[in-house]
Amino acid sequence: MKILLLGKNGQVGWELQRSLAPLGEVLALDRHSTDFCGDLSQPERLAQTVRDWRPDVIVNAAAHTAVDKAESESELARCLNVTAPAALAQAAAEIGAWLVHYSTDYVFNGEGDQAWQEGDATGPLSVYGQTKLEGEQAIVASSCKHLIFRASWVYAARGGNFAKTMLRLAAERERLTVIDDQHGAPTGADLIADVTAHAIRQVMASQTPALAGIYHLVASGETTWHGYASHVIAQARHLQPDPGLKVTEIAPVPTTAFPTPAQRPLNSRLSTHKLQEAFGLVPPPWQQGVNRMLAEIL
Ligand SMILES: NC(=O)c1ccc[n+]([C@@H]2O[C@H](COP(=O)([O-])OP(=O)(O)OC[C@H]3O[C@@H](n4cnc5c(N)ncnc54)[C@H](OP(=O)(O)O)[C@@H]3O)[C@@H](O)[C@H]2O)c1
Repeated sequence: MKILLLGKNGQVGWELQRSLAPLGEVLALDRHSTDFCGDLSQPERLAQTVRDWRPDVIVNAAAHTAVDKAESESELARCLNVTAPAALAQAAAEIGAWLVHYSTDYVFNGEGDQAWQEGDATGPLSVYGQTKLEGEQAIVASSCKHLIFRASWVYAARGGNFAKTMLRLAAERERLTVIDDQHGAPTGADLIADVTAHAIRQVMASQTPALAGIYHLVASGETTWHGYASHVIAQARHLQPDPGLKVTEIAPVPTTAFPTPAQRPLNSRLSTHKLQEAFGLVPPPWQQGVNRMLAEIL
C-alpha cells in the first residue's frame, strides 16, 4: 500500500508517521518538501503530487490551525482548509485513492449539552470552523472515497500543549483561573493516529466505499478546561511527590473572562457511536491518554 502523508510534523502528522509505517510505503511531506510538493498554499502542485506519485491513500494532517489568527487571515485559512483539500479530493477521485482528512468540533455552534452526532446541523462560530466545514463539504461533494475524522481538544507530548502551560503557570503562581463552561474531551494525537491506521486497514481490506464518511474521533468521557487543568495538577503531584508547584487554588471562570478574536463553542462533546459501530474500536477515557502524556513529559 502507498500512503501519501501531508503535514508530517504537526501533532497528528508526527504520530501518523509512526502509526502508518507498518501499513506500507509512506511518503511523508511538509510544506518545505522539495522532491514532491506538500504545500497546502499551492493546491494545484499538491494535486500534481497525487497524480505523479499515485498513492492508494492520502492522509491530510496539514491545515490552518491557528484559530484566532484565522479571523484576520481568512483568505489563507480558506486556501489551506478548503481549496487544498478540494484539490486533493479531486485528484484522489481521478486515481481512485482514499482521502483521509481531519476536521473539528468547531463546525458546531456549541449550543446545548448533548454530544453532537455526525448528522447534526452545523453552525460554525469562527473563520476556522467555517473553513474546516467547507473543506469537509468539498471532499464529500468530490465523490472521492473519504474518511473525515472530526476531533477536539487535540494534544501531543511533543511541542507545546495545554497541560504544559498549566504546569508552567502552576509553578509560578498560587492561583490559576481556568475556563469551566466549555465542555469536551482532550484527545491525544497518538490516539487519532492509531485509530486512523486501524480504519485505513479496514477500508483497504474491504475494498468497498461502504465505510466512507464523516466520523467523530475523540477520547471517551468529558470535562471542562478547568477539570482538565485540575486533573493535570493532581496527576503531576501523584507522579512526582514534589513537582515544585506553588498553586493552591484553581478557580473556575467563564469563557468571557478570556476574550479571544475567535469565538469557541461551549459544547464540544462529540459522540463516537458511529465510529465504534463502523470500525469496532472503543476510544479510551480521556484521562488515560493525558496520564500517559504527563508520564512522558514529567
Ligand atoms: N489541535 C486541535 O485541538 C484540533 C482539534 C480538532 C481538529 N483538529 C484538526 O486536526 C488536524 C491536525 O491538527 P494538529 O493538531 O495536528 O495541528 P498542528 O499541530 O497545528 O499541525 C498542522 C500542520 O499543518 C502544517 N501546515 C500549515 N500550513 C501549511 C501549508 N501551507 N502547507 C503544508 N502544511 C502546512 C503545519 O506546518 P508548520 O509546522 O510548518 O506550520 C503543521 O505541521 C487538522 O486538520 C486540525 O484542523 C485539531
